[in-house]
Amino acid sequence: MTTSPVRVAVTGAAGNIGYSLLFRIANGDLLGPNTPVIIHLVDLPQAADACRGVVMELEDCAFPLLHGTVISSDLETGFGDVDVALLVGSKPRGPGMERADLLKDNGRIFIAQGQAIDANAKEDVKVLVVGNPCNTNALIAKHQARRTNPRNYTAMTRLDQNRAMAQLAQKAGVYAADIKNLAVWGNHSPTMFPDFFQAQIHGKPAADVINDAEWLQGPFLKTVQQRGKAIIDARGKSSAASAASAAVDHIYSWATGHMTGDYVSMAVPSDGSYGIPEGLIFSFPCRITSPWSYEIVQGIEINDFAQAAIQKTTAELIEERDAVAEMLG
Ligand code: NAD
Ligand code: LMR
Repeated sequence: MTTSPVRVAVTGAAGNIGYSLLFRIANGDLLGPNTPVIIHLVDLPQAADACRGVVMELEDCAFPLLHGTVISSDLETGFGDVDVALLVGSKPRGPGMERADLLKDNGRIFIAQGQAIDANAKEDVKVLVVGNPCNTNALIAKHQARRTNPRNYTAMTRLDQNRAMAQLAQKAGVYAADIKNLAVWGNHSPTMFPDFFQAQIHGKPAADVINDAEWLQGPFLKTVQQRGKAIIDARGKSSAASAASAAVDHIYSWATGHMTGDYVSMAVPSDGSYGIPEGLIFSFPCRITSPWSYEIVQGIEINDFAQAAIQKTTAELIEERDAVAEMLG
């Protein structure tokens, strides 16, 4: 076991996703079974009591890896010395809204949090934005990075990847674990493109195994793109446990290199690959090359269908970026 615990900040700790996420982190699911953690629960002052209650429950689990907790609504303390920052805290959308409708309300949160992370976290802090619209919120936070590494500001599309894997697995009559290299391009929004052309089932092209192009290009894409809405319509609240699980997957893959070789969906700052404007937080097929190191997979052949889908989601992200131009100072 490593001796010094890793500090992990979770904003929105008193919220729905927080309630699923904190227990997974404390159990060692985020960073592996040999890494103790100190969890910083960051939320608004009015959520302090709720955070205290959650901490009592964390204590009552007697997790061997949980070496401490910090509750704070002060961002300096909240992000003080943290190694990992999971930015969940923000407003979820309700029925009838798109995630982009949250941009003006939630965007500002990420200016202050980006500044506080840059000033107080470890220099090589790794950031995952979950709060919606997560790509553009991550862009806003990344713009505050002076001391910290802008490459380490990422947003979550792993939930979309997991959703896509589940749909393909059901259709093909296999397990989710049999699906490889199913990555999502673009925005965490209805324009996202889960790239079924690259996906493999038991090492064979998924499109050949499924052999139903109409389903792949129609109902499959629509189901994945609209899954968040379907859950809100059914539950009256947005996805929480599955979102927490995907956040754990995103960081666990990045931190440990688990799934090395396979594609993982991460929304990361574009380096211009595939013609995506530099700096945009764009979900690419990524590969973890060593612990805490990712690369955008190069050389993927993109056919006309995929190109049109990628162009559409790029245009939407450019529109979102332009809508928050005044927050990118
Ligand atoms: P929730 O309303 O249950 O909880 C949000 C929490 O954030 C609350 O405790 C609130 O007090 C806190 N909060 C609000 N503003 C804050 C701030 N400035 N600083 C710190 N904490 C703050 O919401 P939830 O269901 O946990 O969802 C949180 C966010 O995650 C939403 O924006 C939702 O849309 C998003 N989400 C993203 C994905 C994804 O795949 N990227 C999936 C599911 C949900
Ligand atoms: C999801 O995809 O479940 C979340 O982004 C919540 C939402 O608003 O759809």
